[in-house]
Amino acid sequence: MELYDVVVRAAEFIGSQVKGKPEAGIILGTGLGNLTDKIVDEIRIPYDLIPGFRVSTVQGHTGHLVVGSLAGKIVVVMEGRLHYYEGFSLAEVTLPVRVMRHLGAELLIINSAAGGLNPLFRPSEIMIVTDHINFQGDNPLRGVSDERLGQRFPDLSQAYDRDLIKLAGKLAVEGKIPIHYGIYVGVSGPSLETPAETRMLRQWGADAVGMSTVPEVIVAAQEGLRTLVMAVITNVNLPDCMAPISIQDVMDNASKAENNLFSIVQGVLTNT
Ligand code: HPA
Repeated sequence: MELYDVVVRAAEFIGSQVKGKPEAGIILGTGLGNLTDKIVDEIRIPYDLIPGFRVSTVQGHTGHLVVGSLAGKIVVVMEGRLHYYEGFSLAEVTLPVRVMRHLGAELLIINSAAGGLNPLFRPSEIMIVTDHINFQGDNPLRGVSDERLGQRFPDLSQAYDRDLIKLAGKLAVEGKIPIHYGIYVGVSGPSLETPAETRMLRQWGADAVGMSTVPEVIVAAQEGLRTLVMAVITNVNLPDCMAPISIQDVMDNASKAENNLFSIVQGVLTNT
């Protein structure tokens, strides 16, 4: 079956379970699943019931698509995302983004956990992503081209919507939420970075490193979604004094940022 048909089939299945047309998609990252508690009138569909969807194997990713109402908008939320390091193809990782678009979403908000490379960052702070470096060694658009999915060579000069970046920044200031702006470098993982890799990524100009987000943003650009990415800095990696990273710390520090993140997400939905 062609990818486009897989997208249509999944969207038709989800559409048959929910009322109304989703206006925005939200992807929640590691340790950030509690945001779905705030959604009302929701329907939760386990990924394994959705035709074509793969099921995440990662601790902290429960794997449900939640459709409901948040800040006056109908949203479709991925509670748990798929990662390249789990062994999925990037087409599989990004299928839900295409399905969200097919369901009607025009806006995509991505949240993810990331390691800070900028020495001014502190754990549990939020970085509004202004650009990325794809260092995953793969691209979700590699392979057969299909005009129904978008252009062969999508432009990425505005992949991170400037108006959404401005809006998120304004909301953070109003809410007295400390934020940074910066560049996210996507790596394949699952091993964490060595000190030498950390130094290199910083020298390349990246402010944070993570194992997700980049493929979803590339597909979102091809699909014509307006995208906002907020990375939660769960640990800060300094090449000259690297400390072991505990996954428990990553999860805990992500959770500590949840309220701040949620208030920006809600504000963005209200003001778009
Ligand atoms: N490196 C890569 N991915 C991550 C990190 C990190 O230090 N922290 C959270 N996700």
